[in-house]
Amino acid sequence: MSTRNSTSVRRLIAIGLAALIGLATGTTRAEDALDEIARFRQQMADDNPAELWETRGEAAWHEADGPKHVSLEQCDLGMGPGVVAGSFARLPRWFADARQVMDLEQRLVWCMMTQQGMSREAAEENHFGDGGKRSRLEALAAWIAGQSRGMPVDVPASHPEEQRMLALGERMFYYRAGRHDFSCATCHSGDKQRVRLQAVPNLTDPKDARRAWTTWPAYRISQGEVRTMQNRMNDCLRQQRMPEVGFGSELVTALSMYMAHQAQGGIVDAPSLKR
Ligand code: HEC
Repeated sequence: MSTRNSTSVRRLIAIGLAALIGLATGTTRAEDALDEIARFRQQMADDNPAELWETRGEAAWHEADGPKHVSLEQCDLGMGPGVVAGSFARLPRWFADARQVMDLEQRLVWCMMTQQGMSREAAEENHFGDGGKRSRLEALAAWIAGQSRGMPVDVPASHPEEQRMLALGERMFYYRAGRHDFSCATCHSGDKQRVRLQAVPNLTDPKDARRAWTTWPAYRISQGEVRTMQNRMNDCLRQQRMPEVGFGSELVTALSMYMAHQAQGGIVDAPSLKR
């Protein structure tokens, strides 16, 4: 780890903990806590620990791996074999070779299986890293998303299968279920909603949807890890008291399709920094 990175991580811990303790103890008013996080983001903006994941992700892309001992350099993320720049801004999308609409993580797993010869289990290993066990998928996602930074989200949902996923995602967004009869919309369709002091975006409003979609993957201060939308959805489905979904499930892709389409034209600013 470079000096710059270790200094940034130390600073991160100091400022981040201060902000989080403020939230947890409730000693600060909600507004103060939100201000605190905004200030923290500002201070860290040029110094996002996600850079470490990006560096690791780039190396993982070029590294020969799996039983076939080849790299992912020929993986087609939708713009042709090996084209990384701009690919993330166009996901999820239909892939004719896999006959499936896929998000970034699903596509990476597919490439690991078909090109590197890995089993699904090996490809999905540590899909959500936790300190000790680093995730190759989260690192790859961080690097690949970063290669679309500054580009507009372009998910028109024009293929019939993309339209089907979009419709499924929209239905799911409004579908009420679980112990509390919540839908995504219960928490994410009003303006200035709060859940336990967190300002939650109104994902039915393109402005909020753009801000939300374009800032994932993100380095989560509270978790000390870069997380992808797969992980965020797991978290929200849990808050909705829904049964846990499998990694790379069609349900999550459908929700992502809906959110990405809502965010059309937003500018990718990932990996970002989040609470
Ligand atoms: C019980 C309330 C609740 C439900 C239900 C819920 N969420 Fe969330 N959601 C939250 C909270 C709280 C956050 C975190 C806000 C933060 O940390 O800043 C969040 C964050 C998000 C984010 C990230 C926003 C950002 O700007 O980073 C997305 C995207 C999202 N939710 C989508 C969904 C979807 C899709 C569903 C339905 C499957 C859903 N949520 C269900 C409460 C909920």
